[in-house]
Amino acid sequence: MKIRGSNIVVTGCAGFIGSHLTDALLAMGNHVVGVDNLSAGRREFLEDAEGYPDFRFVQADLLNDDLRPIFKGADAVMHMAANPDVRSGAKDTLSHYKQNIEVTYRVLEAMKETGVKDILFPSTSTVYGEPTVIPTPEGYGPLVPISVYGATKLACEALICSYAYSFDMTGVIFRFANVVGTRSTHNVLHDFTNKLKADPKRLEILGSEPGTTKSYVHVEDCVRGMVIGAEYARNKVEMFNLGSNDRMSVKDIADTVTEVMGLRGVRYEWTGGVQGGRGWIGDVKNMLLSSDKLRSYSWEPTMNSSQAIKKAVREIVRSG
Ligand SMILES: NC(=O)c1ccc[n+]([C@@H]2O[C@H](COP(=O)([O-])OP(=O)(O)OC[C@H]3O[C@@H](n4cnc5c(N)ncnc54)[C@H](O)[C@@H]3O)[C@@H](O)[C@H]2O)c1
Repeated sequence: MKIRGSNIVVTGCAGFIGSHLTDALLAMGNHVVGVDNLSAGRREFLEDAEGYPDFRFVQADLLNDDLRPIFKGADAVMHMAANPDVRSGAKDTLSHYKQNIEVTYRVLEAMKETGVKDILFPSTSTVYGEPTVIPTPEGYGPLVPISVYGATKLACEALICSYAYSFDMTGVIFRFANVVGTRSTHNVLHDFTNKLKADPKRLEILGSEPGTTKSYVHVEDCVRGMVIGAEYARNKVEMFNLGSNDRMSVKDIADTVTEVMGLRGVRYEWTGGVQGGRGWIGDVKNMLLSSDKLRSYSWEPTMNSSQAIKKAVREIVRSG
């Protein structure tokens, strides 16, 4: 995928990862059209991007608006928009179906109709469900997602593969570990810092001690990995896992958050969770991706999970 001096559409450009990706693409000399309906994204995340004459923001809804005028003339679409909230999937299955599957279908159809050939797609470790091989490589199967979110992202992957082979397109798919860093608005770090600001003596934690163990990657490493993977991708459809090389338990995260906030003697109150101690329905218990494929293309995360979490918590605390 050519991502220097190209015309690129970034959907979800005002979101957490999409806004960082937009900044990186502009710094690399691309012309970027950013699309977002601002349902979760924030215009202030585009402050840096709006300093570039090569950036144009379009407020549009990917589910309802005609995408063809926006996509016309683009070389690639980086489709970052989604409903990324795993937790909400057990209560609101329709939103995941519409915002993930239907929107991705509309994006692919608009690409087909306007002749845009390349798509980059952020998928997720949750497509693996609860794999028996950890660290999990890209070739692991069968893929048995346990959350509606994971299922819808897997369906999007499948749609992208089929369009690539049916309509002479190419797809680069990244399966991310949990991404943390500036401009994130919803994750365990926000949950903990918000609760501790309200009551610095106790912390309610979803699940049973020590909680799930997962891998975390900082958004700076994530975006650098996407750029490297996209540039090296040679096949019609290329899949890359993207995560750091270690895991942290929820208890480790709680310890890190309290330490960074300078709190002592915080009482952890575990809720017990659901389905044998999970934080919520569809919460995977153990996740660690093998990112050897991306690392073979000279990508290396600069931070492990603990360093990524520490940096992200400091960023959240600093931003108030
Ligand atoms: N954050 C993570 O840890 C993580 C992990 C794995 C995969 N992903 C994937 O990465 C992508 C970005 O995630 P994020 O954490 O930055 O999420 P985010 O919610 O911060 O960003 C998503 C953006 O898409 C926009 N959007 C949503 N629906 C839209 C629609 N119908 N029309 C136009 N805009 C719309 C939102 O306003 C938001 O700005 C998602 O596809 C997500 O599934 C994220």
